[in-house]
Amino acid sequence: MTSAISLFTPVESDLAVLTETLKQLVGARHPILYAAAEHLFGAGGKRLRPAIVLLIARATLPQQDISAKHRRLAEITEMIHTASLVHDDVVDEAGVRRGVPTVHSSFGNRVAVLAGDFLFAQSSWHLANLDNLTVVKLLSQVIMDLAEGEIQQGLNRFDPSLSIDAYLEKSYYKTASLLANSAKAAGVLSNVSDDLADHLYGYGRHLGLAFQIVDDVLDFTASADTLGKPSCSDLSSGNVTAPALYAIEEHPALAGLIDREFAENGDFESAIALIEDSKGLERTKDLARVHSRLAVQHLDDLPPSESKQALIKLADYVLSRAY
Ligand code: IPE
Ligand code: IPE
Ligand code: MG
Ligand code: MG
Repeated sequence: MTSAISLFTPVESDLAVLTETLKQLVGARHPILYAAAEHLFGAGGKRLRPAIVLLIARATLPQQDISAKHRRLAEITEMIHTASLVHDDVVDEAGVRRGVPTVHSSFGNRVAVLAGDFLFAQSSWHLANLDNLTVVKLLSQVIMDLAEGEIQQGLNRFDPSLSIDAYLEKSYYKTASLLANSAKAAGVLSNVSDDLADHLYGYGRHLGLAFQIVDDVLDFTASADTLGKPSCSDLSSGNVTAPALYAIEEHPALAGLIDREFAENGDFESAIALIEDSKGLERTKDLARVHSRLAVQHLDDLPPSESKQALIKLADYVLSRAY
């Protein structure tokens, strides 16, 4: 399979191996997992997280091939990510993911919850088998953070008084924690200095925030076809993201529409119109740009390499998705 993202060229063949290994690790274990496996391997996932782990492995050990532990870490990140998507689609009641029907829409919520649990459990098992306590702690934290993020989002449904800081905190838990902690873990497996490990964490954190912020823009601006998942679904399901939060500052009436959960005819359409009539989407893209730039600054200490260049350009790629 050729990557959706041409920047992954330095690790393209490694990603192909990863896809095969994931099929064997997950697909063969249990019939329930065939459903989840389709999302893992069959359809258009970008494999962003394993690509970052593999690129960091190459950038931190330029003279060596990628180690077996780095490869396993890359597989674990994609397992955790996919588990979180299977559960997220239950919570968000989303019908399509990676261009194919979601697990819960094909097989029901019970199967989807079990399939997600199974993937989380399997990722924990493989994580423990890395025999590196620091890496175990980093990635277990991610699994806790994912749950925290979904809970925060659930508690803040239809809350127009959410602050941008609270929005960013939730975005860290839901998305950036996985990129941050797995980037750092990749450095730890390469025995980098504590200082460089912290910078890799910073890279993943800011890249992850930029990525989620752009995903929130695309939810408003892109078609379901392009996304391979439903569009314009955040606001309707009460997930008040940055474009809406900024728009409320210009059009306070929007807060009322959200607060009454679009109960009256035409409320939702009015809300979308108010957001489009505001600087919300522009300001949200600016916010993503800030985090993308901060991400790149954290790579200063990496020695020059093709993989380092790819990591730098990835920060531009993340932004370019919104244009
Ligand atoms: C989707 O992640 C969830 C978010 C963090 C926005 P991706 O956009 O990386 O999903 P896939 O793996 O490519 O399907
Ligand atoms: C990110 O949030 C999903 C997870 C990190 C679990 P979203 O709810 O925005 O993801 P999409 O838009 O469904 O992919
Ligand atoms: Mg979702
Ligand atoms: Mg989204």
